[in-house]
Amino acid sequence: MFREMTRRAFLARLAGGVALTAFAPYAMRMAFAQNATTPDLAPATVPAVQPDPENVLRKTIPSTGGNIPAIGLGSWITFNVGNDTALRDECAAVMAAFLDEGGIMIDSSPMYGSAQDVIGYGLARLGLPKSVFSADKVWISGGDNGPGQISDSLKKWGVAQFDLLQVHNLLSWQDHLPILQRMKADGQLRYVGITTSHGRRSDDLADIMRREPLDFIQITYNPQDRMAEQQLLPLAQDRGIAVIINRPFQGGRLTEYLAGKPVPDFAADIGAQSWAQLILKFIISHPAVTCAIPATTRVNHVRENVRAAHGPMPDAALRARIAKAVAEA
Ligand SMILES: NC(=O)c1ccc[n+]([C@@H]2O[C@H](COP(=O)([O-])OP(=O)(O)OC[C@H]3O[C@@H](n4cnc5c(N)ncnc54)[C@H](OP(=O)(O)O)[C@@H]3O)[C@@H](O)[C@H]2O)c1
Repeated sequence: MFREMTRRAFLARLAGGVALTAFAPYAMRMAFAQNATTPDLAPATVPAVQPDPENVLRKTIPSTGGNIPAIGLGSWITFNVGNDTALRDECAAVMAAFLDEGGIMIDSSPMYGSAQDVIGYGLARLGLPKSVFSADKVWISGGDNGPGQISDSLKKWGVAQFDLLQVHNLLSWQDHLPILQRMKADGQLRYVGITTSHGRRSDDLADIMRREPLDFIQITYNPQDRMAEQQLLPLAQDRGIAVIINRPFQGGRLTEYLAGKPVPDFAADIGAQSWAQLILKFIISHPAVTCAIPATTRVNHVRENVRAAHGPMPDAALRARIAKAVAEA
């Protein structure tokens, strides 16, 4: 039935469910979260324009010359909703809106509780859209266990193969990277990557980037955490490695802190209507960054986030002003 529905009709039907469950408990989502804060339930401003997927900024993947939209979708905590159908439908509505806006990359991991199953549920409800760029991870000790975990992940997503597999948090990377490279050579995978976050193990990651043939790295970068500017972002540019940015809002702490504070006037010059859009424009305008993957439980937020990839991007001087404005807000 869902194959026959347009995405907009699907979203409209789901919207009713979302309204009813907007204040559902977050217990399941938080079950796997460490040091996470309570999500901000205040409504966000959504620019009053229609989705414009054609005009989403796309950035190049250096290893192939292909390109992807500069905003993707994360799934840690936000999609860890277990078997609750109403919450699963909320996640499906977020995915539907994300695709409707022209987003394609969805990021997950076996570490994110039920998030992979929930993505699989959403993809099935959306009729397995072909546009999705599936980015998952391998997160297990020892290379022997990698292939089994990857096939479990494929079943949960309900896809035949992933576009990108990343070694999560460098765990057993010496074992997993050769397996992923073999899968790529055999045509079972398009891209190979590796992730870290919170600035952890930057030197180790830099060593791996110098030695291994990687398509992607995934790291943390935002106006409040600019450590990646020192080493990893310039190195990625030198080595021709695409960069995915996790924790663009510091896990939500940044947007929570900025909520209610006036957005600087200069934001209008680059078409940013909220702090969230200003932060995302700051991130994706860095020349080394390929895309950012904000996570959200809300349809209005996912639309707002993808729309940050529209219109003018800040130059170096304006990027410095954004960082200063965030620091001084
Ligand atoms: N080592 C790794 O591989 C690693 C580590 C960390 C993260 N990741 C990946 O990166 C993704 C993103 O990081 P994250 O989930 O830690 O945090 P994040 O994206 O920085 O923040 C998520 C929070 O931001 C809020 N938010 C989203 N859009 C908003 C908007 N427009 N306005 C106001 N608030 C907004 C969300 O609340 P609402 O639900 O209310 O919108 C949510 O609580 C993860 O989901 C995961 O896929 C990977």
